Amino acid sequence: MSAKPTILVTRKLPEAVEARLSRDFDVRLNPNDILYSKDDLIELAQGAQGILPCHTEHFTADVIERLPEEVKIIANFSVGVDHVDLAAAKGKGIVVTNTPDVLSDATAEIAILLMLGAARRAGEGEALVRTRAWKDWSPSFMVGIQITGKRLGIVGIGRVGQVVADRARCFGMEIHYHNRSRLPPELEKGAIYHETLEDMLPVCQFLSLNCPNTPDTVGLLNADRIAKLPDGAVVINTARGVVAEDDALIEALQSGKLAAAGLDVFNNEPNIDTRYADLPNTFLMPHIGSATAEARDAMGFRALDNLDAFFRGGEPGDRVA
Ligand code: 8YV
Repeated sequence: MSAKPTILVTRKLPEAVEARLSRDFDVRLNPNDILYSKDDLIELAQGAQGILPCHTEHFTADVIERLPEEVKIIANFSVGVDHVDLAAAKGKGIVVTNTPDVLSDATAEIAILLMLGAARRAGEGEALVRTRAWKDWSPSFMVGIQITGKRLGIVGIGRVGQVVADRARCFGMEIHYHNRSRLPPELEKGAIYHETLEDMLPVCQFLSLNCPNTPDTVGLLNADRIAKLPDGAVVINTARGVVAEDDALIEALQSGKLAAAGLDVFNNEPNIDTRYADLPNTFLMPHIGSATAEARDAMGFRALDNLDAFFRGGEPGDRVA
């Protein structure tokens, strides 16, 4: 019987996932959830045929070049793969997979939370109560923005974006979207397609960023595009921090052009631009889009399904390179 493939797991994963890993592979776990350096990754990958990383490990071209020849698959515990240089992996014959679908509901829930939290000033309100600063009530006290019946524009209507649209419809929101291609009617569900982002922005009382991090989306929400939004719009980001230009977003929040922003992802996580935390009209989460037990288990099992398929000699279902 052939020896079990050796898999380097870079972060501590859910118990059920690690149990399946230990059953089916010769696994190198990270019980203390240490954040490995690039040199750690190279050293720990010696003799391994596969790596199961998160978005916290950065497989740049130089890291991939230094990986031992035995490594033949990087099975990500993530849907985003912007932490992997796909061209470099392909050039070295390393298969790369991700975990789509299984975290769409959880991430869409955070998008709705951010929308409500930003619009209804949940961060301010929570702080008032928690710090015992709440002293009075008045008709003008903590007035926010109602989301019911408002227009929501979704940038990138992939799996997560479609679930965001479904959940927002429950609030009677009118759904608009901009995407590289138009959805078929059965997925569009009456949403209004805008071939260009510039065409959609002026109608977006709420704007949800749900696009992947690609060369076309880095800095997508810049000052010019923010200026095209209606005054008092609310921006939500559960995609990647790089999609929004920090200076432009912060300036718009400071000036009141934007009423608020709800953010779960940031440039340079976790060392984010501190101005976001200093603003009263931001509702901020620490990249917890997929942070539910169900989603994290499912992500791990999805990554394992990809490893199983690969080491059986088949094609992993979620191959991205
Ligand atoms: C994941 C994410 O939880 O999957 C992604 O791309 O951004 C997160 O929601 C994280 O990447 C886990 O590696």
